[in-house]
Amino acid sequence: TDTRSSGPFIAAIDQGTTSSRCIVFDRDGRIVSVDQKEHEQIFPRPGWVEHDAAEIWDNVQEVVSGALDKAGITAEDIKALGITNQRETTLLWEKATGRPVHNAIVWQDTRTDALCRELGRNVGQDRFRRETGLPLASYFAGPKIRWLLDNVEGLRERAERGEILFGTMDSWVIWNLTGGPDGGVHVTDVTNASRTLLMNLHTLQWDERILHSMDIPAAVLPEIRSSAEVYGTAGGKLAGVPVASALGDQQAALFGQTCFSEGEAKSTYGTGTFLLMNTGERAVNSYHGLITTVGYRIGDDKPVYALEGSIAVTGSLVQWMRDQMGLIKSAAEIETLASSVQDNGGAYFVPAFSGLFAPYWRSDARGVIAGLTRYVTRAHIARAVLEATAWQTREIVDAMQKDSQVELTALKVDGGMTSNNLLMQTISDVINAPVVRPMVAETTCLGAAYAAGLAVGFWPDTDALRANWRRAAEWTPRMDAAVRDREYKNWLKAVERTMGWIE
Ligand code: G3P
Repeated sequence: TDTRSSGPFIAAIDQGTTSSRCIVFDRDGRIVSVDQKEHEQIFPRPGWVEHDAAEIWDNVQEVVSGALDKAGITAEDIKALGITNQRETTLLWEKATGRPVHNAIVWQDTRTDALCRELGRNVGQDRFRRETGLPLASYFAGPKIRWLLDNVEGLRERAERGEILFGTMDSWVIWNLTGGPDGGVHVTDVTNASRTLLMNLHTLQWDERILHSMDIPAAVLPEIRSSAEVYGTAGGKLAGVPVASALGDQQAALFGQTCFSEGEAKSTYGTGTFLLMNTGERAVNSYHGLITTVGYRIGDDKPVYALEGSIAVTGSLVQWMRDQMGLIKSAAEIETLASSVQDNGGAYFVPAFSGLFAPYWRSDARGVIAGLTRYVTRAHIARAVLEATAWQTREIVDAMQKDSQVELTALKVDGGMTSNNLLMQTISDVINAPVVRPMVAETTCLGAAYAAGLAVGFWPDTDALRANWRRAAEWTPRMDAAVRDREYKNWLKAVERTMGWIE
C-alpha cells in the first residue's frame, strides 16, 4: 500500500550549531523529507568559536531545495515555513549589502568573559537577573554585540548611523528569506530575544536602561515579535510561502514535544543539552542556578515562560573525541566503544570547554579528566564521555525539582544523542526516573512547523498537536542506589577541579 502523505505540507528550517536542516512535515506531524548540511566550526583561539554566516545562508538555501526535491514538491505545496535556530549566536551585517561585518560569534564562545565581569562590577549581577531572567555570562548575545562594536574598526559609528543590523540566526535567515538588502524584514521572536540579556522579560521589549549600560545602540536591534505569526513572504525556491514562526531551537523542542501545560518538561540532546520546563504565565525566578526564559508566544496570546537548565557541552564532546582527538571515527562509535567495558574505570570527564553553564555559571572553568590511572583505556574514556552528559542532566534535574517543587515523574527526551541506548539508559539510572522518547525525535523542526502551522490555521489548536505525540521508546532505572550516590560524589569532586582555571 502507498503510505506516502499527500499535501499540503509545512516546512521548517533548523539552523543549528553544527548543521542546517530543512524538514517537510504532513498534517499528522510525520516527516516527509529531510535534508541537512554541516558547516565549518572556526576556532581562532582557545575559547573562541565562530561561524561563517554567508556559508550558513548558502547551506540553508541548499537544504531547502534538497528537502523539497526529495519530497517531490514545490513551494505551492507548502502552506507555511517555520524557523528555528541555535540561540545566542551573534551576527552583525550591513543593511545595504547583506555582508556580515565579522564571523558570527557562537554561543559557546567565551571571549566576553572579562567584559561580563566588568559589567557585573559596574552594573551589578542582580539587575540583569531581575530584568532579563539571565545571569551575566559570556553565553548570551548582548556582550557579543558589544565586543564586535568595540573590536571591528569603525563599526560603532556605522551602527549608530543605522547602517548595521544585529541578529541571532533566526533574524539572519528571515531577513535573507524575505528579500535581504531588497526589503527583507528585520525581526526576531520573543524566545530568541530573551537570550540577549537585552530584553525585559516582563514587557518583552528591549530594555533601554540595559542597552545604555551595555553601550549598544538601539538602531541595530530587530523588532521583537511573537513566535507564531506571519513575518513576511519568502522568495527563491520558497517563493510565496509565508514565513510564519520563529523559536530558539530549545523552545521549539519544548513546543514540538507538546509541553503546553505548566510542569511539563523536555531535555534535548544536541551539541549541548537543554532541559526546559513550562512554567505557564509566570516567569519563575531560579534560586538554584537555572535561568528564566520565554517558552513561546502564539500571536497575541499571553507569553508562556520556562525555566531552563543549559549544559554547554554534550554532543560536541563526542564530536571533539572524533575530530580533535581521533579516538573514534564516527559519533555512533562512541556507544560501541563505551559498551566494551563495564564501567568508567575510575575516570570522570568534565567538559567545561565553554566554562560551566547551569547550575554553576562559571566562565572561568575549563575541562578536566580526573581519576586517571594506567588502568584506564580509551573505552573507559568513552564511557566517561557519555556519563558526563548523564551527570550534567542529573545536576539540572535536581535544580529544576528544587526551583519548581515539581517531582519529575519521567523525562521526555529528543535530539541526535537519543539514538544512543547506553546513554539513555545511563541517564535514566542517574536521575532515577524513566526516560521517554517520542516517535519524531526531530522535535526542534517539528515545534517550528507546529507554530507556523498554527499561525496560518493549518492546525486548529494545540490539542490537535498533542494528539500527534506518540511514545517510541522508554528506559527505566536499573542502577543500584549506593553506586549512584558514590558515582555522583565522584562526579561532583571532578567538577570542583574545573573551577578557577582562568584568572
Ligand atoms: O543555546 C544554544 C542552543 O540553542 C544550541 O542548540 O541544538 O544547536 O546545540 P544546538
